[in-house]
Amino acid sequence: MPTTVPAGAQPIVGIVMGSSSDLPTMRKAADVLVELGVPCEVAVRSAHRNPEGAAEFARTAADRGLKVVIAGAGGAAHLPGVLASLTELPVIGVPIGLAKLDGLDSLLSIVQMPSGIPVATVGVDAAANAGILAARILAIADPDLAARLTKHRAGLLAASRAQDDDVAAALS
Ligand code: RP5
Repeated sequence: MPTTVPAGAQPIVGIVMGSSSDLPTMRKAADVLVELGVPCEVAVRSAHRNPEGAAEFARTAADRGLKVVIAGAGGAAHLPGVLASLTELPVIGVPIGLAKLDGLDSLLSIVQMPSGIPVATVGVDAAANAGILAARILAIADPDLAARLTKHRAGLLAASRAQDDDVAAALS
């Protein structure tokens, strides 16, 4: 069973990863979604080690109330594409950077989908961006969430301005 974050809420974003070793990266998607007030569910469903589980997750995702799926995988990273082939929901792929090829293998495995079955691919290990992108998709029909995203962006602006002050102070 997927884990719901926060517990007890009705999840609207599904976060799936190929292995528990992906969690340190993928939890950044869950963290930003929770920060934005978007409940999500988190699950491990390997496209290769548990193909039936991955297929079942995708086939039932919309009926469970999910509206967007985020899928992270590394290496021969087929999970996002397999999920996208089995659900009508938008799928965002997160290439996980592994030790051997620095994530280039994951990126190319996820981004080069055949015409007709898209996966919106973020940068290597960019799980927070995947969470923000999912929230932006949902915000099209949720003005309160759109307002929270605007506030989130204002926080980024303030942090960037503070960095400018830090650089000025370091050089003076
Ligand atoms: C992929 O293989 C997973 O998404 C993970 O990134 C990678 C390595 O998995 P482990 O061997 O660490 O379980 O399927």
